[in-house]
Amino acid sequence: MNQQTLSMRLARVAAQVPAGARLADIGSDHAYLPVALLRRGAIATAVAGEVAVTPFQAAERTVRDNGLEAVVTVRLANGLAAIEPGDGITAITMCGMGGETIRDILLAGAGRLSGQERLILQPNGGEPPLRQWLMANHYRIIHEEVLREHRFDYEIIVAERSGPVSYCDRELYFGPLQLQARSPAFLLKWQHVLRQRRKTLAQFAQARQAVPAAKLAEVNQQVAWISELLGAP
Ligand SMILES: C[S@@+](CC[C@H](N)C(=O)[O-])C[C@H]1O[C@@H](n2cnc3c(N)ncnc32)[C@H](O)[C@@H]1O
Repeated sequence: MNQQTLSMRLARVAAQVPAGARLADIGSDHAYLPVALLRRGAIATAVAGEVAVTPFQAAERTVRDNGLEAVVTVRLANGLAAIEPGDGITAITMCGMGGETIRDILLAGAGRLSGQERLILQPNGGEPPLRQWLMANHYRIIHEEVLREHRFDYEIIVAERSGPVSYCDRELYFGPLQLQARSPAFLLKWQHVLRQRRKTLAQFAQARQAVPAAKLAEVNQQVAWISELLGAP
């Protein structure tokens, strides 16, 4: 993968960035996503934010190698601190981090959001707490997808602030739109998760120390929901 050939995962994220956006890509690593979008003329400008020095330097290198210094600003910053008021950001991507990390970045940096930005999030696990934050902060999920690449099931969640929105626990767990659409990739993901959860329950049954009742109840609830979703016995 590079700034010309994105992974399927980042290509699917790129497809959700509105044309002409002023993009902030937080946790940008090599800045492949913003640079690919700029090379195609798909966005106007970008900020690439990185908290760690080595990926920050990699992002600077990609921008320099592509002669895009005038339109991509690379900032060494924690989360949304990479965004400055004058940037006029209209879309934020956060990809390849845990859902709880993305949620924490949104929580810590909420003051940097104007509420006008589209959020395009690609969490690696931890989707329910992220959806919970979106709901609590009046973001409606406008697009969701699951894709499989390198034997891993990735989720993409796109949200915009729209006013109060209410999702039930099952919708927060599976994703409200995915629950309706039930794409083949979505169903395959949950077959994989069901297998893992059943293995976990079997391990719990054999554990020498008692598993906390709340943990057991949580996994049992998940197995019940997933079995119902898949019509599994
Ligand atoms: C696995 S990489 C993903 C890179 C790229 N976004 C992608 O999806 O291919 C995650 C990156 O997020 C950065 N990161 C983690 N927490 C961050 C934070 N609070 N603020 C900015 N960057 C962060 C890490 O340094 C790392 O480079």
